[in-house]
Amino acid sequence: MRTQVVIIGGGPSGLLLAQLLMKSGIESVVLERKTKDYVLARIRAGILEQGMIGLLREAGVSDRMEAEGYVHDGTLIAAENATFRIDFKKHTGTTVMVYGQTEVTRDLYEAREKAGGKIVYEVEGVTIHDAKTDAPYVTYTVGGQDQRIDCDYIAGCDGFHGVSRKTIPDGVRREFEKVYPFGWLGILSETPPVDDELIYASSPEGFALCSMRNANLSRYYVQCPLTDKPEDWSDAAFWEALKRRIPEEAADKLITGPSIEKSIAPLRSFVTEPMQWGRLFLCGDAAHIVPPTGAKGLNTAASDIHYLYHALRDHYLDGSDEGIDQYSAKALARVWKAERFSWWMTSLLHHFPDQSDFDLRMQQADIAFLRDNEAAQKAMAENYVGLPY
Ligand code: APR
Ligand code: PHB
Repeated sequence: MRTQVVIIGGGPSGLLLAQLLMKSGIESVVLERKTKDYVLARIRAGILEQGMIGLLREAGVSDRMEAEGYVHDGTLIAAENATFRIDFKKHTGTTVMVYGQTEVTRDLYEAREKAGGKIVYEVEGVTIHDAKTDAPYVTYTVGGQDQRIDCDYIAGCDGFHGVSRKTIPDGVRREFEKVYPFGWLGILSETPPVDDELIYASSPEGFALCSMRNANLSRYYVQCPLTDKPEDWSDAAFWEALKRRIPEEAADKLITGPSIEKSIAPLRSFVTEPMQWGRLFLCGDAAHIVPPTGAKGLNTAASDIHYLYHALRDHYLDGSDEGIDQYSAKALARVWKAERFSWWMTSLLHHFPDQSDFDLRMQQADIAFLRDNEAAQKAMAENYVGLPY
């Protein structure tokens, strides 16, 4: 088989790239190791920056998001039983969209299938060959049959545990990592959200986040020790911990209910340099991971896809390879800013087990400065709604 671009990974990064390329008449094949149902069963975050919204519109996959998503003009920060608001609209003139990543992925799958785009599911043993030549190819097995796809370019959209990043030789690849000493225990409940906007809460007991998916589907998180397992937490224990960590006014009006999903995610910051090796390009979680505090995971994958899509489009349609040559440098420049913001929000709002009394006072002073200073709030708002591509 031959195609122009092989895309390894059928998550949001791979599917968005495939859809954008198709819109420009560029052929691709998506290789996904799981089934579609497995991919769609993943519960992920739900905040879209304007850049991602624009890409979904450009890909022709924005109708349901526009109809069902929630536009948020700001967010609430709570500490020491007091709440203040970061006004995105006032400070940046723009907003974010609350629309589950699972729904984004569902919409992308639907568009790919409707357009007859090729997705090969349940592939095994994907291996990248000759990425440093002008004739790369990918081999894999599906249904017990060995397959080979010759191509011009390979997009590694296969997430943190994929094969693409590791194809870049150890002597070439540099990895930067920070593992946080806690995780997030998250639940979904078919209950009305506690507020119209998200509440990021810092408390002596730990961080909590009140989010949502729709008018009757809420997403809540509490910081928990890395040693905890979801089964260690009854629903009652979760709700009591959440109530202790959010302001009394919110706790008093919180509507609880049975969890329909309960999971614990570890928090890490991770970046790979470079994000390309010959004709292999890393995108999204294959190249970088952020703690979910700043909602930058999908939105940083989006800017990678924007840069790679335009680079490939310029190559095929205009014969220009400047974007291809500059992809890694351009993508990393924005990745590191998203990493910084995600690290900053995580450091600001979480309780660190080894925190000294001085560290705690610094954290409290940081939150107080954010509460009282317009410039600090503008800086946070600009990062939260998304820095320019
Ligand atoms: N071969 C084929 N497919 C693979 C392989 C492989 N060797 N390894 C992984 N995959 C698939 C996974 O099954 C998954 O569906 O690649 C896909 C990667 O998708 P994601 O992990 O969702 O990564 P990405 O598409 O970059 O999306 C980034 O997802 O994890 C969140 O916080 C993250 O919001 C961010 C977004
Ligand atoms: C979510 O809704 O899952 C969510 C929202 C904001 C975040 C992280 C997760 O920062």
